[in-house]
Amino acid sequence: MTQSPLIEQFTNAGQGHVFQFFGTLSTEEQESLLAEAAEIDLQEIATLHRTLVAGAEAEHQDFSGLEPAPYIAHPSQVGNSASWDEARQAGEAALRNGSVAAFVVAGGQGTRLGYDKPKGLYPVTPIRQKSLFQVFAEKVRGAENTYETTIPWFIMTSHVNHQDTVDFFESNQHFGLKSEQVHFFRQGRMPAIDTSGKILLSSKSSIAMSPDGHGGSLRALVRSGATQVMEENNIEVLSYFQVDNPLIKVIDPAFIGFHLQNQAGMSSKMIPKAYAEEKVGVFCTQGNKTLVIEYSDLPEDLMHATDEFGQLKFLSGSIAIHVLSRDFIIQMGGGDASAPSLPLHRANKKIPTIDADGNAVSPAEPNGIKFEMFVFDALPFSDHTVTIETQRESDFSPVKNAEGLDSPKTCRDDQMKEFASWLENVGAKVATDNNGVPLNSIEVSPLFGYDANSFATSWSQLANKPDLTESIDL
Ligand code: UTP
Repeated sequence: MTQSPLIEQFTNAGQGHVFQFFGTLSTEEQESLLAEAAEIDLQEIATLHRTLVAGAEAEHQDFSGLEPAPYIAHPSQVGNSASWDEARQAGEAALRNGSVAAFVVAGGQGTRLGYDKPKGLYPVTPIRQKSLFQVFAEKVRGAENTYETTIPWFIMTSHVNHQDTVDFFESNQHFGLKSEQVHFFRQGRMPAIDTSGKILLSSKSSIAMSPDGHGGSLRALVRSGATQVMEENNIEVLSYFQVDNPLIKVIDPAFIGFHLQNQAGMSSKMIPKAYAEEKVGVFCTQGNKTLVIEYSDLPEDLMHATDEFGQLKFLSGSIAIHVLSRDFIIQMGGGDASAPSLPLHRANKKIPTIDADGNAVSPAEPNGIKFEMFVFDALPFSDHTVTIETQRESDFSPVKNAEGLDSPKTCRDDQMKEFASWLENVGAKVATDNNGVPLNSIEVSPLFGYDANSFATSWSQLANKPDLTESIDL
């Protein structure tokens, strides 16, 4: 057998063990292992091990000159209603002329939730148990009806969940969207290594690869041809959101409008942190750059610092909702030599692997390191950014954990609270418990209403109003 040059490169880089079972594999298995290995940049792995794992050049984050990022206050707070109206009109015009698409990052592994299918398939609504994907699809359709437009939808998957995701949409007729308007693409992946820098195998014929983080979305949008599709269809901006948050305003005209008015590359929504230690990143500025400092990196004194009114100084919590301009995506993900690249971050994880004899090992403790990029690391590269305030109760309730905080239970309650607020808004009285959670279940289809205004319109046209003393399913 002639040795593949790739095997030689791995051997020279001290990663020859990746091919230790090669001779025992079928031709098909050999080909698939070689294809996986070809995705790996050995130089990059060596550098990551040296800088992020071995600690020789441990990164020290520079906090000098760090200030809270300015944000546009919501009109329900101290925001200027007239400027929000203008922004909304600008966003609506962009929607009407078809230059806006939705974009969900759904390539994560969802390990905390512990669901064995892609997270977007998770049944999340209070009564009908609609999946996350169905909720988003119906919100897209709701916005399409309002603005009499087509809103394409880009969906980023991973190698592991791609086919299941596509099959789910196909078997559900894309939840009423046209199949041509839904664009699926896979994100990139990175190998996991152990603390000595060796690439881990997940079986004799495969490398332990995992998705390269939501930050991988920028280059995946370019590599997959999604930006090409955007160009061909005159789509200027993407409304970016995460797969775990059914409260999201998938399409928010005011947010899109502020982004466009400011010719921003990347914009963000913030919520005021509920308390100093809340586990969300904070929007800051350093010089003329906007950046997010992760909660785990924010020094204690800054985390607790207050202003002259006693309010948290670093108040702006990041909730992973953005608008991205096509040009900025190409600038960041284009891959030409001058393009900036996002830093990789390390995470210690329990990674199923094999021992020296090829037997499967399921570690009880973290045994390896994964590398991921974060999308908010792109912010400092955007010459113009806008951060706007949003209301937690109408934009953010993620399903992250199986129980407790940010779980299916809290998310269900938050959905019902929002539906109840729309009912209250039209004068209907809903009985709630002490936490404001409706006593009877409520579900509102996004096709009936996807925000307070669209709900009010449909409600006013409803001939037979539901009995508010029972469950409400609209
Ligand atoms: P999370 O940070 O919650 O990670 O992702 P996760 O992998 O889904 O879940 P855990 O940590 O294993 O429990 C936030 C969003 O980013 C997407 C996820 O699908 C989710 O929408 N994401 C994350 C990707 O698309 N790709 C990734 O590589 C990581």
